[in-house]
Amino acid sequence: MKEKVEEIRLKFDEQIKNIKSLKELNDLKIEYIGKKGPIAQLTSMMREVEDKKTFGMILNELRTHVSEKLDELKEKYEQEELNKKLESEAIDISLPSTQIPVGAPSILEKVIEDFEEVFMSMGYDVVDGPELEEDKFNFELLGLPKGHPARDAQDTFYVKGDELLLRSHTSPVQARVMLQKGGEEPVRVICPGKAYRRDDDDATHSHEFTQIEGLIVDKNIKLSDLKGTVTVICKRLFGEDTITRFRPSYYQFTEPSVEMDISCFSCKGKGCSICKNTGWITIGGAGVVHYDVLKGCGYDPNKWSGFAFGFGAERCAMLKYGINDIRTFYNVDLRESKIFDRKEEE
Ligand code: PHE
Repeated sequence: MKEKVEEIRLKFDEQIKNIKSLKELNDLKIEYIGKKGPIAQLTSMMREVEDKKTFGMILNELRTHVSEKLDELKEKYEQEELNKKLESEAIDISLPSTQIPVGAPSILEKVIEDFEEVFMSMGYDVVDGPELEEDKFNFELLGLPKGHPARDAQDTFYVKGDELLLRSHTSPVQARVMLQKGGEEPVRVICPGKAYRRDDDDATHSHEFTQIEGLIVDKNIKLSDLKGTVTVICKRLFGEDTITRFRPSYYQFTEPSVEMDISCFSCKGKGCSICKNTGWITIGGAGVVHYDVLKGCGYDPNKWSGFAFGFGAERCAMLKYGINDIRTFYNVDLRESKIFDRKEEE
């Protein structure tokens, strides 16, 4: 029996040397380890052997030897195959890549962020309000009851009947914030956001635009506080030598009301094409919060006072970055957005 086992081992060792592929290796495995193979045959002869223990040991050794050799070779083949695959699938990093066009953050966002930063440093909170607004907040609480002629000037998009509209300015947020605060605490907020009007789009008009609304309500707030605040803000945003000018204006929700102008940062007031030779540029409207608005929004006008303002964000961005068409902000054109890529600033 021992000779028989030795014979099988020698034959196996001889055969495995000649194996050339994984397929041949698998065949050899079946030949030796399979149910009809020599090892299985010898195992079935166990009954006839006297010294079962020794025979069992020898047989086990043979089985282990055969399995180990088969596994070793299998691993070698598998490794070879993997190497071949890796080689064929290797990525050629010297090839030019597919160019995926990438946009840039909107310059309008940058201007809004700049405003937010300056106001936050002065203790203002940044708040939000809905773009789909109720007539009550957009008009009524701001001194514009139904049928008021000044409503026409706002060319409003009504969405449902005459109650729901796309806000025509960000001022409704003033009413919302005051009502939310409940008339007992001071308010100091800005709200940058979209507003909509039925304007025909051209280089300086867009039916969709951005305002930066601001509201402060406290004790003893005066027009001079508004002037002081706007002056600081404009110096920080447009340069230290910027001069701020207020011109009398009219809004239903502020009294007195003003237009805010700054000295042209391009020609420093001398007159150029940007400021249409006036030396001044209008950047928004503002005023002292109207008595009736405070009252309607839950603040006692005999104790509290405040100011409000609304900057035109596109206008500020156009002036600051020399953009001459407001539609630039709303066209999805990567070439345009690339011009204002602010990567280098980050
Ligand atoms: N809401 C006004 C507008 O759209 C601007 C404004 C805001 C005026 C706040 C006064 C106070 O023109």
